[in-house]
Amino acid sequence: MKCLITGASSGIGKDMAKYLSSLGYQVIMVSSDKEKLELASKNVKNSKIFVSDLRKENDVDKLCDFILEEKPEVVINNAGFGAFGFYDEINEDREIEMIKLNVICLHKITRTCLQYMEGVHNSYILNVASLAGLMPGGPMLSAYYATKSYVRSYTLGIYKELQRKNKDVNISVLCPGPVNTNFNKVAGGHFSVKSLSSEYVSEYAIKKMFKKKLVIIPGLSSKLAFFFSRFLPIKLLLSITFKIQHKKR
Ligand SMILES: NC(=O)c1ccc[n+]([C@@H]2O[C@H](COP(=O)([O-])OP(=O)(O)OC[C@H]3O[C@@H](n4cnc5c(N)ncnc54)[C@H](OP(=O)(O)O)[C@@H]3O)[C@@H](O)[C@H]2O)c1
Repeated sequence: MKCLITGASSGIGKDMAKYLSSLGYQVIMVSSDKEKLELASKNVKNSKIFVSDLRKENDVDKLCDFILEEKPEVVINNAGFGAFGFYDEINEDREIEMIKLNVICLHKITRTCLQYMEGVHNSYILNVASLAGLMPGGPMLSAYYATKSYVRSYTLGIYKELQRKNKDVNISVLCPGPVNTNFNKVAGGHFSVKSLSSEYVSEYAIKKMFKKKLVIIPGLSSKLAFFFSRFLPIKLLLSITFKIQHKKR
């Protein structure tokens, strides 16, 4: 059994790699930083690394070719980052890179997996979105929230199409709230609310993925936040989100 995880050099992806290897999977760990990846893979039995800068179209295409050769039964689209601040404070190129990684790369890898997984019994795609992707918008992280809405919406649409076509591919979307990783350092903020551990989120997500859960939300507070958010007027929700995100400065 083989799995491939993007963004496996740190945080959620690294802990997912450890957990899947403990279940007996051969793990292919992908990230853009060879040194970080080599270090992370030392703690993951039966692993190999694939260095790829997934903001770059050429690198994504090479990874897709590699996926078609290797045909892993489990693929986790986890690589991603955020960019924190008012829209006119964030460097535009950085935002475009984020969209390329969080959206375009995930989209291409998902399509690639669907090509061969249709014929593979017990195959799984897990797309990592965020609680952000379940919200109507996220001031101070506006483009990031939008990328995660795309991940959520695309994954749910594909799920239904697979079901209608009776295809034996399982697809799920992971929507965590705050998780203690390098995310904030990269995004340029810090959490103003309590965060879950990356180990907990990773193990929880993979267990739920194997149970074929469609939308995976780790932690009671995130589940409650999602539940109640559906009853609030959008403008009020945006004001609450702004307050929470603004505290991250
Ligand atoms: N932490 C949170 O609170 C939280 C909440 C909800 C959702 N998420 C999502 O969870 C996912 C994992 O994030 P994390 O929290 O574990 O953060 P993290 O510790 O910063 O991990 C991000 C991973 O993405 C990889 N990555 C970044 N740029 C890349 C690129 N250009 N090419 C290939 N890989 C790249 C990084 O590897 P290299 O730097 O080595 O390339 C790293 O392995 C992200 O999609 C994030 O949006 C996080």
